[in-house]
Amino acid sequence: MKQKTDYGHFDDARSEFVITDPLTPVPWINYLGNTRLAAFISQQAGGLAWHIEPQQRRLTRYHSLPAPGDRPGFYVYVRDEDKGTVWNPHFAPTCQRLDAYECRHGLGYSQFAGERDGVRVGVRYFIPPGDDVMLWDVTVENRGSAAKTLTLASYVEFSILEFMRELYWCYLKNHIGFEFHPGENWIQYNYHVFEAPFTPAIFFACTRPVDGFDCSRDTFCGRGGSLERPAMDLTGSQLPGGGHGCGSLGVKLKLAPGRSERFAFLLGVADDWEAAARLKARIDVDTAFAALQTYWRGKTDVFQVATGDAHFDRCVNVWSPLNCQVTLERTRDLSTDHVGVDGLRFRDTMQDALAGATFNPEFAAGRIRLVLSSQARDGSGNFSFYPFERKLRVNLEPVRCDNAVWPIMSVANLVNETGDLSFFEERLPYRDGGEASVYEHILVGLRHIDTRRGPTGLPTLFHADWNDGLAVFRDEHAESVMLGMQMVYAAGLFRDFARRLGREADAAWCEEMAAHYRTVCNSDAVWDGAWYRRLLLSNGMKLGTRQRAEGQIYLEPQVWAVISGIGDHDGRGRQAMDAVYERLNTARGLCICAPPYTGIPTPQDPLIGNAPGTGENGSIFCHANTWAIMAECLLGRGDRAYEYYRKMLPSVAAEEVGQEHWGREPYVFNSTVIGPAQKNDFGRGGISWLTGTATWMYIAATQYMLGIRPTVEGLRVTPCLPSHWRKVRVTRRFRGRSYAIDLGPTVLVDGRPLKGDAVVKGN
Ligand code: GLC
Repeated sequence: MKQKTDYGHFDDARSEFVITDPLTPVPWINYLGNTRLAAFISQQAGGLAWHIEPQQRRLTRYHSLPAPGDRPGFYVYVRDEDKGTVWNPHFAPTCQRLDAYECRHGLGYSQFAGERDGVRVGVRYFIPPGDDVMLWDVTVENRGSAAKTLTLASYVEFSILEFMRELYWCYLKNHIGFEFHPGENWIQYNYHVFEAPFTPAIFFACTRPVDGFDCSRDTFCGRGGSLERPAMDLTGSQLPGGGHGCGSLGVKLKLAPGRSERFAFLLGVADDWEAAARLKARIDVDTAFAALQTYWRGKTDVFQVATGDAHFDRCVNVWSPLNCQVTLERTRDLSTDHVGVDGLRFRDTMQDALAGATFNPEFAAGRIRLVLSSQARDGSGNFSFYPFERKLRVNLEPVRCDNAVWPIMSVANLVNETGDLSFFEERLPYRDGGEASVYEHILVGLRHIDTRRGPTGLPTLFHADWNDGLAVFRDEHAESVMLGMQMVYAAGLFRDFARRLGREADAAWCEEMAAHYRTVCNSDAVWDGAWYRRLLLSNGMKLGTRQRAEGQIYLEPQVWAVISGIGDHDGRGRQAMDAVYERLNTARGLCICAPPYTGIPTPQDPLIGNAPGTGENGSIFCHANTWAIMAECLLGRGDRAYEYYRKMLPSVAAEEVGQEHWGREPYVFNSTVIGPAQKNDFGRGGISWLTGTATWMYIAATQYMLGIRPTVEGLRVTPCLPSHWRKVRVTRRFRGRSYAIDLGPTVLVDGRPLKGDAVVKGN
């Protein structure tokens, strides 16, 4: 299976991944953005930009379906006027030979360098934290021995802001216009669509006076031309009456040998044209980039670890926080796998806020508020919602029974980080009227689940619980073991805060509820003899039992039995996790269930959902693997936890199966990896970037393996390390102070030994 092909490597000193071959198996992207203006960009500079959210405020186009993929994007074209060649430093879309190429994806920026015939063009793309402008910082260098005459032109294709209208409403092009304004040296995108929810001022500018431009995509391409072979005549075309608009600004350069020039293109958005002009005028490229670096340093400094294990360290220090921040912002909305119409997902965003609470508590708190404000008064959540439209829009279907179990996990982690219990008292609306405190939102949510018990006493499934794939059983009255177990964990967390807040009656209710689910989960209806079953169907059939040929054992109930403490009963948790090791473990991680289904069991044996070995049907479901790492730490088995953690690391996977076979970015997590049931594809990465794996891997590494867990009183330190790690140093910023924590046979904090899991007081 091992393949030699190599597309790039990490540059740890600069916290970058360096791509050295533009023809990666799929686009390997990076996200840029400041939580309002955002973009993603691939190693061929393919990608798109949007403002706040990509369904109603999509600024530029990206085609998800046609071949070739990854078009268009943020292009710089170079024409060598002596040779007549046209090329791109980022290879696409002309795909002309380059003498040298690299793309460095870093924290909030992507930097390209392409060289041909002695001309080197570097472009660094980024969006600074404080300003809604995407900068393309261009440097052109003549490294040859003869003078060069060059034309450089930008290309970005404007999108109709409302993506769905762009897809079906051809008249809409009459409602937009594109003009060049010599005074501002920019192309102005005028948006005057009837009833448009937003009409911002969008511009594409250059810091250097331009020598030509095109606002018309079709003129830029020329008759019979294309982005691969554009006419690039820069004729000064404008489209005041509408059409397919583009931002192409041209600059002519004469460069003597050894000389270089630097300038920038700016894609900006503001409320009106005066604000846009002010924005353009105040941008200084170097200051903006320095601000971006300071921003990211502020996030990554919160938790830095040195174990000597390069894969682990770079992940925890750099790529995990980046992945978590992007996932928290984007939920499952826009990536090379998601077209950007999904809004935020109630349970996914709530989980994403878990890790964000560590290094970006303000932002995580904001997301938690958004999610809770989309909850209904009866405590139910929703599948997804659109908080940035004029009126909150909500998708109630499909129904996920687990929505309301997640909020306490993220809120607890947030409050433990900040120590500020008043977050529980904040008032937030319900989507169907009225408001309540965060505390009440969580409480009614847990009650909502609890009052929907089935005949065995477990929560009812509706369409599915965390595992979307269970929806293929079409059994709304089935009972979920996983959710029953999660209720015990949630009840424990909530009880502790209820007590702190003097709500004894609620704490007592939590105790009672937890005792109930604990008993049911350890009853013969759920315990299968060596592991816990997964689902009790309404016709009496059970999933996750040795009595069936397929789907005999599922990962989720085994890990949640340990996390909730249900498995403390008779050592069952340990036994169940041993069954996981025996029956679900593979060279690439733990399958979500085994053996996978080849058809859904009786009565009609209808749909299968995912093919065997993929998705929820027996893939290595990374999101659920993260809980196995936590469970093993709770069982005190550091070597096993490490084994599971390591297998989830994309850099390890890419190294072991080869970057070509792995396929996806080696620097961010995947939601799934193809399981052994697919012989040829086993070990191939699934969907990257936007996955709950990101948030939970961060928690598993920092709070369980390294064991540095925030509590209201301060930091608890209870590591569970693999036996081969000798010296581990963590630097943790916590409530305004930085602690140096050495994890060894004795734990040292700032050089002084701690007894037991003693608490470090925050300031
Ligand atoms: C995907 C979904 C998530 C779901 C999981 C398991 O990651 O985004 O909501 O819980 O799959 O089905």
